[in-house]
Amino acid sequence: MAEKRILLIVGGGIAAYKALELTRLLRKAGVGVRPILTQAGAQFVTPLSLSALAEDKVYGDLFSLTDEAEMGHIELSRSADLVVVAPATADLMAKAANGLANDLASTTLLATDKPVLMAPAMNVRMWEHPATRRNLETLKRDGVLFVGPDEGAMACGEYGPGRMAEPAAIFEAVMAALGSGARPLAGKRAIVTAGPTAEPIDPVRLITNRSSGKQGYAIAAALAALGAEVTLVSGPTALPAPAGVKRVDVETAREMLAACESALPADIAVCVAAVADWRPESQGDRKIKKGDGGPPPIALVENPDILATLSKAATRPRLVVGFAAETNDVEAHARAKLAKKGCDWIVANDVSVEGTMGGDENAVAIVTRAGIERWERMAKGEVARRLAQRIAEELQ
Ligand code: C5P
Repeated sequence: MAEKRILLIVGGGIAAYKALELTRLLRKAGVGVRPILTQAGAQFVTPLSLSALAEDKVYGDLFSLTDEAEMGHIELSRSADLVVVAPATADLMAKAANGLANDLASTTLLATDKPVLMAPAMNVRMWEHPATRRNLETLKRDGVLFVGPDEGAMACGEYGPGRMAEPAAIFEAVMAALGSGARPLAGKRAIVTAGPTAEPIDPVRLITNRSSGKQGYAIAAALAALGAEVTLVSGPTALPAPAGVKRVDVETAREMLAACESALPADIAVCVAAVADWRPESQGDRKIKKGDGGPPPIALVENPDILATLSKAATRPRLVVGFAAETNDVEAHARAKLAKKGCDWIVANDVSVEGTMGGDENAVAIVTRAGIERWERMAKGEVARRLAQRIAEELQ
């Protein structure tokens, strides 16, 4: 770890004091910390404290001749393996989401070619404001990683999400982003299916569903973070491929199956995709015209079941995991699915809960032959990390 370096941008918020403890933890682990303290940040912590703990100079001014002579802001933005923003204020998030660059911190965020990890900290109303929601979505789409915020009492006397994650949690996220965490899945191959499938009716129309692909992409990323070599077979989604994951784009269920089969042999298969159960029997090469005869009948035929096929493949992955999105009797259906599909685990989720389908959170239960494990409602990223961890334990 000695050679790893981070650039730590400390924004202006009461949580800035936690950046000092984060710096201490990182230095103790042998990670180099080069701090940038925003003007607002300097109202909360002093450059001297930060510099002493980081054992490095503190940068703060885009227009400082001395700083620029020593290390220009472009060079600064490339000098680390990871850029960490803690606290990431609403203002810093807004600037980064919109590409504004009017001080050293925002200019560095725009100029960097390194991964960025943000630890947001702000008042609960600010965190929940539609503008911050939009900025968060934009930043996530741009590949920015997030840790927190936590829910709790705030310095301003309100209660809710917006507290910066604790230094230990940010430290863990930094280590994971630096690829320095434990890699129990190193040398293991994994296939993950994600997103919807799209089954053409004619050249312009198709049958598809509302799957966003978020959960599957998060699982692919979490398995890769634990060292697995991941092939993500994805239907059409609006998501960027997670870092270090090989993505194969497909449209139909049959293409998805073919892509999975060519990714065999593998140690792990996690089928998260919402595969269309049926496809139109025939798709002509011409658009079906509105005629006098009323709506045309569309004959449907069954699609191949990818999960069931992988579960009985000659080179069956050692662990095959399926998902069950149900609206009622979630666990009973999951048990039946386990038997029917021949997989090892079913991750059951209740999609009747508002915000699950396409949302950022999921409440799941892991159903295995040995029993059932219910997990509380949590972010899809957290479900993914826990699941990857459970998979790693299973394959020990
Ligand atoms: O049968 P059902 O669609 O409810 O099963 C869901 C599980 O099966 C999911 O893991 C899904 O990815 C997988 N599946 C599949 N191929 C299909 C249908 C479902 O892999 N054709």
